[in-house]
Amino acid sequence: MTQKTDSVRVALGARSYDVRIGAGLLARAGAEIAPLLRRRRVAVVTDETVAAIHLDALRAGLGDIEMTALALPAGEATKGWRQFSRAVDWLLAEKVERRDIVIALGGGVIGDLAGFAAAVLRRGVRFVQVPTTLLAQVDSSVGGKTGINSVHGKNLIGAFHQPALVLADIGVLDTLPARDFLSGYGEVVKYGLLGDADFFDWLEVNGPALAAGDREARQFAVRRSVEMKARIVERDETEEGDRALLNLGHTFCHALESATGYSDRLLHGEGVAIGCALAFELSQRLGLCSQEAPSRVRAHLQAMGMKVDLADIPGDLPGAEALMALMAQDKKVLDGKLRFILARGIGDAFVATDVDTVTVRAVLEDALRAR
Ligand code: NAD
Ligand code: GLY
Repeated sequence: MTQKTDSVRVALGARSYDVRIGAGLLARAGAEIAPLLRRRRVAVVTDETVAAIHLDALRAGLGDIEMTALALPAGEATKGWRQFSRAVDWLLAEKVERRDIVIALGGGVIGDLAGFAAAVLRRGVRFVQVPTTLLAQVDSSVGGKTGINSVHGKNLIGAFHQPALVLADIGVLDTLPARDFLSGYGEVVKYGLLGDADFFDWLEVNGPALAAGDREARQFAVRRSVEMKARIVERDETEEGDRALLNLGHTFCHALESATGYSDRLLHGEGVAIGCALAFELSQRLGLCSQEAPSRVRAHLQAMGMKVDLADIPGDLPGAEALMALMAQDKKVLDGKLRFILARGIGDAFVATDVDTVTVRAVLEDALRAR
């Protein structure tokens, strides 16, 4: 049975765009992208792993649109100045002009880097996101946050630059390793937890089918996640307020990613899942939600075979004080106060600006003690 393609509009005035979601979009890329083109030529930035599996399919899908491509090394280490300047220089050498289109084909690393390259190239060219990981389809390809990492921390150099179109081909997720799929699933669960209790209920029932490859379930989960992100980004494009809700679990996550050196020890979405569990534990201890809420969060993550506890992170971790210091480095620090996303229950998150650090420390100490 062929599935229909879903379309979610991100309504941002002159910067509005569609997120197309469905199987077979790579094969139809030419028809989808053609209306954006002034000349029939595109420049693709991808990574070596994705290039080996999916670049030929994109080339075929583009038909008579001329395609030139740069494949960067796969992995988070690519998201730094070195590969960024390589990409920008390559785009200039390929004579990409102001009215051309850059395509980002890959996961969040490529989407963030290529999007940032497009943002600064000739003071801004349009780009199309073709996300190939679950994480990129439900989160990083939508909303226009682009950037790279610095030695001072993650995503500290960047720009808001909305894509002109997003093509989320559900079929490409078939080749994603199970660990990367589950990492992306951490961001999917986040949407249910932050604002849609019914979606979380649905995930509790359908999560295993999703992980096993059910395309219909995958398409629904991607669409619902994108709809939620689109509505939040429309309200608050540059994160002055509500957009911070998308950072549920991220304050803990960023400290843990930093403590593990942004390495294979902890993938971003894995850190988000652990961070969500900790954020619900913190919310419960602050008397904001019932004990049932953190228990349900943990139970679902465990049922999916995901990392849930600090004990699931291999190798040593620093103590609670050092983790607190890493949190203080986070971009979510405002006027010296730690901003946390807390919850009154599943599907009911809110931004808290003045969180009691004694309770945060206690949550971390207990989590570390359980290792
Ligand atoms: P990633 O881009 O490194 O991809 C993970 C791995 O999967 C890579 O090795 C990649 O080569 C491989 N891969 C990608 N697609 C594949 C496919 N279809 N088949 C087989 N292998 C495939 O990582 P990610 O998890 O997609 O993204 C993480 C990045 O996203 C982080 O840098 C994070 O900061 C960023 N992020 C950005 C935003 C945003 O709003 N801009 C939001 C969330 C995360
Ligand atoms: N991933 C968080 C955001 O896009 O705001």
